[in-house]
Amino acid sequence: MNKEIFNSKLFEKLDKDNSIENSREWGIEIDPTSNYNDIVGFLKSWESLNTIQLEYIDSIQNCLSEVGKDVLINGSPEAKLYNILTAEGMSPADANKQFGATAFGSAKNKGWIEVKQGKIVKKAESIIDTVKQDLSGDLSKLDNKILDQYKKSRFVEEKKMSYYRVSKGEQYNKRSKELSDLTVEMLKDDSWEKENYKVNINAMGVVPEQGYRHPLNKVKNEFKQIFLDMGFEEMPTFNFVENGFWNFDALFQPQQHPARELQDTFFIKDPKTSHDFSDEYAERVKQVHSVGGYGSLGWVYDWKLEEAEKNILRTHTTAVSARMLYKLAQNGFKPKKYFSIDRVFRNETLDATHLAEFHQVEGVIADVDISLGHLIGVISEFFKRLGIDNIRFKPAFNPYTEPSMEIFGYHPMLKRWVELGNSGIFRPELLLPMGIPDNVRVAAWGLSLERPTMIKYGLDNIRAIFGNSINVNFIKNNPICMFESK
Ligand code: PHE
Repeated sequence: MNKEIFNSKLFEKLDKDNSIENSREWGIEIDPTSNYNDIVGFLKSWESLNTIQLEYIDSIQNCLSEVGKDVLINGSPEAKLYNILTAEGMSPADANKQFGATAFGSAKNKGWIEVKQGKIVKKAESIIDTVKQDLSGDLSKLDNKILDQYKKSRFVEEKKMSYYRVSKGEQYNKRSKELSDLTVEMLKDDSWEKENYKVNINAMGVVPEQGYRHPLNKVKNEFKQIFLDMGFEEMPTFNFVENGFWNFDALFQPQQHPARELQDTFFIKDPKTSHDFSDEYAERVKQVHSVGGYGSLGWVYDWKLEEAEKNILRTHTTAVSARMLYKLAQNGFKPKKYFSIDRVFRNETLDATHLAEFHQVEGVIADVDISLGHLIGVISEFFKRLGIDNIRFKPAFNPYTEPSMEIFGYHPMLKRWVELGNSGIFRPELLLPMGIPDNVRVAAWGLSLERPTMIKYGLDNIRAIFGNSINVNFIKNNPICMFESK
């Protein structure tokens, strides 16, 4: 809504009437370009100069419901019933089914219809649909009893309406046209000094509308900074769709592994398959799975290419680590430290702490003769920079790491050890088929982004930070995240 047009409409109306109750009358709400916030802004600025007075009013108004609007077009249910009747008549059961139980009763009470030999037939010559007439008119003029009846029949419903009552203020007659716009011309000809012109130099500026970082992104940035400070390079994780090959097979996860089954993995329907790995490498992977090699017995089963080609939503970012390690081996191995933070998908039962999609933070170190001691050292340093310096490791199992360790951290508020992540040294059955030199060890660890975010923001339900029920104000109002690194 244009400010000048609004002002002229406002004053034209106020000159005639002392107060305005309903802005709809002066064509504001029906203007498709009008913006309620703008209008309130214009009104408030006049109010601050005492040109007008505003009173905020909450009221309950009776309005037509969707059913009521239908009566305006098609008539009341009893009229519809009457109009459809032919000489043959209609059974009461059919009438109830088509027009609702009350249509028959009302039409009968009004003397429009009667029942003859079990059939409803017309009794009146013609009818006047008073319900339709009532609903087409001004609802506020209806008798209360009738109105109540229409509410019961759900033709009329109550709606809460709020609006401003606008009336003339003390300074109404002294208003000048340009009260708040300071233009170059006004400065040049000194007209800004005019009696009624006031500039409020203490007024706060308009709060700029801006984007806000999601808490997960704030924590993600902190993690990212820690990885970068420790000399890690970020891996390209922008593909949510993977094939089974990179997500599982390249990682030496057997094809009958439970994680691959439907209960854990989302499969893609279209395109169902993909094949973006070299045949020679796939052959080496097949060998190590089915008959072993590199000093390993393998998993000993019939490895199938079709299974590896199935497209899925990646279940972990380790799929990307596998791609990167393969690439590293192809380009001539160099020691590397990689990290990634991105989304993964699992077909899990949803509850307060689990969603079907979440984010993983992953670190990978590849170098000659790395030991478990290095892994423990790097992980300890990583968590220390997050402000967690009391951590423990527990032996665990992963199909692609050996040894594997779960990482636990002491939670000073919960006063117990909580699981932070998973880690291990990648198995030779995974690295050697890629072409990684055999004196190179690759250590890695992974954790979820959601858990530390929930701890950091004091939340106990994951749905408060992720998904469709999240409150936008929560994002706007939360502070930035800083880990107290030690
Ligand atoms: N990919 C593992 C997971 O999904 C985490 C992990 C990463 C474990 C790297 C070991 C090494 O939980």
